Amino acid sequence: NHNNRLCSHANLWPRSIIDRQNRQKGRVGLVGNVATDPDMQGRGHMRELLSNLEDIAVRQNLSALILWSDLDQFYHKLGYESVGQELHLGFAKDDKNRPSSKSFLGQFALNGELSEDDRKAMLALRPNIPLTLERSVEEFTQQLTIPWLDCFRAYKNGELVAYLLIGKGYDMVGVMHEWGAKDVNDLLALIDYAASKLPFESLMLLVPDQLELNWKSTLVGLSESYEKHPMALIKYLTQKQKREDYSSLFVWGLDSI
Ligand SMILES: CC(C)(COP(=O)(O)OP(=O)(O)OC[C@H]1O[C@@H](n2cnc3c(N)ncnc32)[C@H](O)[C@@H]1OP(=O)(O)O)[C@@H](O)C(=O)NCCC(=O)NCCS
Repeated sequence: NHNNRLCSHANLWPRSIIDRQNRQKGRVGLVGNVATDPDMQGRGHMRELLSNLEDIAVRQNLSALILWSDLDQFYHKLGYESVGQELHLGFAKDDKNRPSSKSFLGQFALNGELSEDDRKAMLALRPNIPLTLERSVEEFTQQLTIPWLDCFRAYKNGELVAYLLIGKGYDMVGVMHEWGAKDVNDLLALIDYAASKLPFESLMLLVPDQLELNWKSTLVGLSESYEKHPMALIKYLTQKQKREDYSSLFVWGLDSI
C-alpha cells in the first residue's frame, strides 16, 4: 500500500498446456498463494493485485489464468469461471469386490529411492488425456520431494506397472491425486495395498472425466462413492473468438498449486 506495507500476495507460474500428442495448446498462468493480510482485507487490495497480475500475464502472452479455490464467489466477481470436470471416487479401506493386494502377482513399494528409469516409467504410465500441463522429468523429480507425499508403486518382474501419489504437503491428505498403470486391475490392487497401509477409513481417487471409458467404468463400478466436480477456475485473457477450448483440461495433483 502507500505506506510501503505488504498487504497482499499472489504467485504467477507460467506453464504450457499440451494435447495427447504432446503438442503445445497454449501457455497459461497458474495462480497460487493468494492472500491479503487479515488487517487489510476488504479494501480492494486483492482485486488490484490480481488485475496487475493479469497485465503481467498478458505481457507474457499467457492466454488464461488457472487456480484452485473454494472461494467461488470471490473469484466469480473477478471474472473467473469453472473449467474441466473431474470425478472424486471413494475407495473404502476394505472391499472384497476389488482386486486384492494379497493376490497381486508382483511386489509393492512405498517411498524410498526412485531411479530415473522409475520416474520416466511413472510419467509414461499416467493416463493419456486430451489436455494437461506439460511436465518434464526434471520437474517431476523436484515435485516428488514435496513433504508428506506418499509414493506407492507396484512392480511385476522388476518392471513398474502402477503408481499412486497420495498427499502433498498440507494438501490432498488421503487423496490419490496422481496415478498411472498398465492395467486397471494393477491400479486397483495398488489402491487396495495403499488402503491397507494408511490410517484412513477411505481414500479418494481423482479421475479426469475424459479418461478412457472402460477404465472409467471399472473404477466407478468399484468405488463406494462418486462425485463430479469442476476441475479448476479459469480466467481467459484473450477474446472469445481467439480462445483455445480448454473444457477438457485436467491438471494432475502435483502440477496444481
Ligand atoms: C480472499 C482474500 C484473498 C480477498 O482479499 P481482499 O484483499 O480482502 O479482497 P478485495 O478487498 O480485493 O475484494 C475484492 C472483492 O471480492 C469480495 N470478497 C472478498 N473476500 C470475499 C469472500 N471471501 N467471498 C466473496 N467475496 C469476497 C469483496 O467484497 C470485493 O467485492 P467488491 O469489489 O464488489 O466490493 C482474503 O480474504 C484472504 O486472504 N483470505 C484468506 C486466504 C484465502 O482464502 N485465500 C484464497 C485462497 S485461493
